[in-house]
Amino acid sequence: MKKRYAIILAAGQGTRMKSKLYKVLHPVLGKPMVQHVLEQVKAVGLEEVVTVVGFGSDKVKEHLGNDSKFALQEEQLGTGHAVMQAEELLMDKEGTTIVVCGDTPLITKETFEQLFEHHEKEGSKATILTAKAPNPFGYGRVIRNEQNEVERIVEQKDASPEELQVDEINTGTFCFDNKALFGALKDVSNDNSQGEYYLTDVIEILKEKSEKVSAYTMPNFDETLGVNDRVALAQAEKTMKRRINEYHMRNGVSIIDPENTYIQPDVVIESDVVIYPGTIIGGKSIIRENAIIGPNSEIHNCEVGENTVIKQSVATDSKIGARVNIGPFAHIRPDANIGDGAKIGNFVEIKKAELGEGSKVSHLSYIGDAKVGSNVNIGCGTITVNYDGKNKYLTTIEDDAFIGCNSNLIAPVTIGKGSYVAAGSTITKDVPSDALSVARARQSNKEGYASRLKNRLKERK
Ligand code: UD1
Ligand code: CA
Repeated sequence: MKKRYAIILAAGQGTRMKSKLYKVLHPVLGKPMVQHVLEQVKAVGLEEVVTVVGFGSDKVKEHLGNDSKFALQEEQLGTGHAVMQAEELLMDKEGTTIVVCGDTPLITKETFEQLFEHHEKEGSKATILTAKAPNPFGYGRVIRNEQNEVERIVEQKDASPEELQVDEINTGTFCFDNKALFGALKDVSNDNSQGEYYLTDVIEILKEKSEKVSAYTMPNFDETLGVNDRVALAQAEKTMKRRINEYHMRNGVSIIDPENTYIQPDVVIESDVVIYPGTIIGGKSIIRENAIIGPNSEIHNCEVGENTVIKQSVATDSKIGARVNIGPFAHIRPDANIGDGAKIGNFVEIKKAELGEGSKVSHLSYIGDAKVGSNVNIGCGTITVNYDGKNKYLTTIEDDAFIGCNSNLIAPVTIGKGSYVAAGSTITKDVPSDALSVARARQSNKEGYASRLKNRLKERK
């Protein structure tokens, strides 16, 4: 196998997106397009990747970090000019260079691998990845001669009416003999309707030098989509969503309504998980066996344990144990650590808090900056008062404690093991283990007062 290199074209401004966000950073299922491309192309095994970036490039560099080298294209003078910017980093290399566009997020590593193999087997100087398009509008067309050999690529805007009838399109991905590529680029001119230096002209240039040029036609047109505007972005999202959902379903996950379920690419889901409609699972989430998620739930960067049920709720950056019951309408905010068998009911918010095994917060409570032991029962309407407007403080509730309804626990404070807090208490001092703490005004009943008051009010009229 020859040494392999990649150039990712990502400097175009993406005018047609009408966006302040750099085109290749627009996400498809939560991941920037260019990152999809980079991850898939890297999977074929590369010596080096160079991403060509332009205006606003800092954000692209930030996203890709050390996974790529970068070349700057200061002015966007076309795809051929973009590839030339990688010359300094790559021109001396012996081997095969794949050129891919940062705006074709659906092409898979399998397709890239097939293209490399085809190119190497044919011994070509250039191989175009092509596809038959049901609607080729907007793409460059692949023009073949009578022997069915590739002659050149003509862009939509430069094509004659006959050429526009051709339905074989250039996907924008090529394999080149590295030295032949940089040699031919020197002869590319900008004499065309857009006044740009087209990479696609390299094909005709190599052909004129009697070099071998070929095409690999991919069977799956779905992958080729180039995202130039938001209509195509939505199409990419749809295709990627279907692909990911089908992968999980084949792996033993039940997705009740795949059209309405959004699972991001890095999520891991074990078998026999059931996902109800309107659910979004993202980031690096892991969903363990037999969990039930949804309907209408959003899980981001969470580990969810076996047999846990999450209904109509939002959970972010947290660890949720096994056999936990969450929702409906709960909010698990970052850094929650929910123990096995815990219960978090409706209108409960948990933030930066540990909840021990079997503990229950069943209704209408806020538990933030807290360390709650196991088998604790937190009554309806309990609040950990964690914030004085400047600093946040910790509430500790030890094992087996029972917090009565509508209590305020003013942090920093500790509720001892097995103790009771009476309903309606505002706790400002630590409660020792095994104690009952009552912190509310005593009740006094004034017998007969109501009718006396009513009579007095009547007389005043
Ligand atoms: C390009 C191809 C077309 C192909 C289509 C596939 C050319 C001339 N045309 O057209 O044959 O069918 O892709 O999707 O190559 N870019 C730069 N610098 C530039 C210009 C573009 O880095 O100066 C990057 C863009 O960020 C983008 C990629 O190159 O990722 C393609 O550019 P774009 O303008 O989208 O080309 P298309 O018109 O789609
Ligand atoms: Ca494009």
